[in-house]
Amino acid sequence: MSHPENFAKGLSIGIIMDGNGRWAKQRGLARTAGHKRGAEVFQDITRYCNELGVESVFFYAFSTENWRRPAEEVSTIMRLFGDYLLKAFDYEKENNRVVFLGDRTALEPRYQELMDEIETRTAHNTGMTLNVAVNYGGRPEIVRAAQLLAKKVADGQLRPEEIDEAAMADMMYTCGQKDPDFILRPSGEKRLSNFMLWQAAYSELVEMDVLWPDFTRHDLDLAIEEFNRRSRRFGGI
Ligand code: IPE
Ligand code: IPE
Ligand code: MG
Repeated sequence: MSHPENFAKGLSIGIIMDGNGRWAKQRGLARTAGHKRGAEVFQDITRYCNELGVESVFFYAFSTENWRRPAEEVSTIMRLFGDYLLKAFDYEKENNRVVFLGDRTALEPRYQELMDEIETRTAHNTGMTLNVAVNYGGRPEIVRAAQLLAKKVADGQLRPEEIDEAAMADMMYTCGQKDPDFILRPSGEKRLSNFMLWQAAYSELVEMDVLWPDFTRHDLDLAIEEFNRRSRRFGGI
């Protein structure tokens, strides 16, 4: 498809990778087969975002609520995430800065170490920021920010009246990054499911009927075109 060369340049995009289970069910496969295919799509869409000159992308991989799933499904998702971590060093070639959002202390220690190492090694990369949200919830993120600020107040480093939006934003996992311009949810669901509640204040929501394992580069083009047609007013006229 042809589109203007800069149609995605500088954008910040949130992606709720949803529909893996339904994709597998449609094919008579185990849900885990959907997660496996979904992980491949994640890698391809990351590469495509790089090619398009996207500034930052936020992938929702595992929510704080997803622990409610059967243990076998959770362990498959974690294993796929672990495989991804081992391969993530490829992203050094892509010049991506990798940031993990969420409470990593609940993950296996070897994964936590890899996550720290990947973030450190890619911290000075100048290309797209690739955010992966794992054991992430928007409310827990806001609660954590409140606790961090309360601690500063208790330690005498901050006065309560100095707490403003910028101070809160600095305590989020996304500290220093632009809010998502739009949040894309495939699979037809129309909800945030606890994703980026603080950052999504003025994000455009784009939902698509395609299931994530079927999601293609062309679908991303369509989502960006949809976003580009929106009129953002930020409360103005
Ligand atoms: C998204 O796909 C993956 C995760 C939430 C980890 P789902 O597993 O939620 O797929 P559906 O929504 O059941 O189809
Ligand atoms: C949101 O999808 C979480 C991720 C995609 C990681 P869910 O499938 O968990 O959300 P609900 O349960 O449909 O709201
Ligand atoms: Mg789902």
